[in-house]
This record gives sequence, structure tokens and C-alpha cells, in this order.
Amino acid sequence: MKKYAIYGKGGIGKSTITSALSAAVASMGYRVMQIGCDPKADSTSNLLNGQGLTSVMEYMRTHDESPELDDIMVQGFQGVYCVEAGGPTPGIGCVGRGILYSMIFWEM
Ligand SMILES: Nc1ncnc2c1ncn2[C@@H]1O[C@H](COP(=O)(O)OP(=O)(O)OP(=O)(O)O)[C@@H](O)[C@H]1O
Ligand SMILES: [Mg+2]
Repeated sequence: MKKYAIYGKGGIGKSTITSALSAAVASMGYRVMQIGCDPKADSTSNLLNGQGLTSVMEYMRTHDESPELDDIMVQGFQGVYCVEAGGPTPGIGCVGRGILYSMIFWEM
């Protein structure tokens, strides 16, 4: 399994290039999962016809238990598996919290 992290300052095209890369690699026949780590939870929207999905943080705010994969993962364009870490309630905490919760979830 190969893992790539794409990061940079705001608005430089991270989500656009990441979703294009995911679609391109998936179209080559590879199984691809894109995990967004932005509190806006919008990195996968290009793969989902502009639709949002339930982020890990959003799920954990509204449920007493950790999500099953099917609760927070949606298949998008070219079959790319889309997940968004999400973020804390606006103005409370930072993006690191969403990423941390999601990392704990993935380790389980
Ligand atoms: N190569 C490009 N040329 C022109 N416009 C672009 C290009 N890549 C992205 N854009 C546009 O720039 C804007 C920001 O792109 P995008 O949302 O991908 O950036 P981002 O780095 O993910 O932003 P954020 O930090 O807010 O998540 C969008 O309107 C997008 O359509
Ligand atoms: Mg983005």
C-alpha cells in the first residue's frame, strides 16, 4: 500500500489536485482511498458531484460509539473511497483534533 500526503497553504488547489490524482490512479485500476483532513470536509466533493458526506468528527458528535467504515465512507467517481476527518465545532479546538480522532479510529 502506498500513502501520499498533500498539504499546503489555503486555497492553492490541494483538494482539486488530490481528487484529480485519486480519480486518475483509480482509473488505472488501483484501489484508492482519499481521506480529507480539512474541517470544511470538502476535499472529496469533486469526486462526489459536489455532495458532502458525514465526517468522522460529525459522526462522533452525534453518536455514542465509533463509526463503522460504512457510516463515514462513500464511494465516488471511479470508485474512489472517500472519507473526511472533519473538524471541531467552529471556533472551538483546531483541525488537529479532527485528524487525531480519525487516526485513533483508523488504528482500531
Ligand atoms: N490549477 C488551477 N488553476 C486555476 N484554478 C484552480 C486550480 N486548482 C484549483 N483551482 C481553483 O482554486 C480554488 C481553490 O482550490 P482548492 O479548493 O482545490 O484549494 P485548497 O488548497 O484545497 O483550498 P483550502 O485550503 O481552502 O482547502 C477553487 O476554486 C479551484 O477551482
Ligand atoms: Mg481543500
